[in-house]
Amino acid sequence: MGPKSKELRDRFEESVLVSTHGSCSPVIATGNGIYVWDVDGYRYVDMSSQVGISSLGQRHPIVMKDIIEYYSESEDQRDGKLTACIGSDFIHPLMVELAEELKRITPGNFPKKVGFKAGGGEAIDSCVKFLKKISPGRPFFLSFVGAFHGRVGSALQLTCSKYVQKDGYERSGYFIKAPFNTDFDYLRSLIGCEFRGDQINAVFLELIQGEGGIVPADSIWLAELMEICKEYDIAVVDDEIQAGLGRTGKMWACEHYGVIPDILVTSKALGFGSAIAAFVVDANLINENITKGWDSETSYAPPDACLKALATIRAIEKENLVANAEKMGEILSRRLKVFECLYPQYYKARGIGLMCGLEFSLNGRPDIRTRDEFIRQALNEGLPFMGAGRGKPEKNPTVRFMPPLCINAEQLNDVMDRVEKIIFNIMS
Ligand SMILES: Cc1ncc(COP(=O)(O)O)c(C=O)c1O
Repeated sequence: MGPKSKELRDRFEESVLVSTHGSCSPVIATGNGIYVWDVDGYRYVDMSSQVGISSLGQRHPIVMKDIIEYYSESEDQRDGKLTACIGSDFIHPLMVELAEELKRITPGNFPKKVGFKAGGGEAIDSCVKFLKKISPGRPFFLSFVGAFHGRVGSALQLTCSKYVQKDGYERSGYFIKAPFNTDFDYLRSLIGCEFRGDQINAVFLELIQGEGGIVPADSIWLAELMEICKEYDIAVVDDEIQAGLGRTGKMWACEHYGVIPDILVTSKALGFGSAIAAFVVDANLINENITKGWDSETSYAPPDACLKALATIRAIEKENLVANAEKMGEILSRRLKVFECLYPQYYKARGIGLMCGLEFSLNGRPDIRTRDEFIRQALNEGLPFMGAGRGKPEKNPTVRFMPPLCINAEQLNDVMDRVEKIIFNIMS
């Protein structure tokens, strides 16, 4: 860490309440494409895309052009574009356009409506509120071990990735958990024996668990779960906050499984750094209980966030970034699999598209020490990786490989050559 980073880090420790910052995360100040630079001028490849927020990389030209045009001065005062609008009470054109675009690009050939929130967890929380209102006789919600759905209200109740996230927060008995990817018998006994199927309101799915260690849903297990949901008319909520918008090599992770959710939630990459989340609901679910004022907030689809979201969708489509994520994902998976083949007792590679992970273990036991050593050495090489894994200590200590969707083969192979050197160094 350079001197300017050290100085800012000290000021940070003094003034900012601790969140999830790593003890040596660099103080980054500038960026372009897949690269970011810290305040001392060191260059890094943004290997986590800021956990998916900078999916287009930094300063993507299509988004930048729209931002500059939007904020440019005009001779005619009436042409000055809105900088602030309380979207919950006043309507502005960009929010309408964004809702229409989200309806267009999400799966399901049925009428849809879009709700907005400032953050992913809040959107999940609003989904629970929506579902409780439309089906008051179904008080229970099911989510899965390892899933992360947010840190507020009902989203925190659904989250089951690390106890530290909800330590000291009271738990509600209405939020039930089941193991992810295993145990059909348990699912069947939970729904139908322990709980009446028609009392379960919805299942919340993170189809590719991110925070939980980059764990994709098993398609056979998921098909069985979908059968159960159909049998008892349980709503399916698909949390695409991290995996959505092209990251997995399809626009939405649910497309890999042929699942069409009743509600799809998106955020992170959508705002290109601005705080915006959206939940797209099957409009057939809406009943007379959803009345004016059922949900709202001040930062409801603010104009600048909608502008960035619209430009983000346009950039993904215009530059074929979904197809690029699929193609680059093949290279990434292939290169990660090499470690699994060479050292089967140490590494497991998982993931889809540009949402991949490498798990560190030693003869079947989690090896957090080596995972953290990898992250430390990689940071020194200009590759800031983020860890993932469920539990604390983690049961499946993993490193996330989630570069921006615009990465090209040369850049990716260069990163993976450097990763290879670090792994060989660790293993020697
Ligand atoms: C899958 C998933 N759901 C929900 C959230 C919560 O989103 P936010 O941090 O915007 O509240 C996250 C954030 O990491 C996430 O990855």
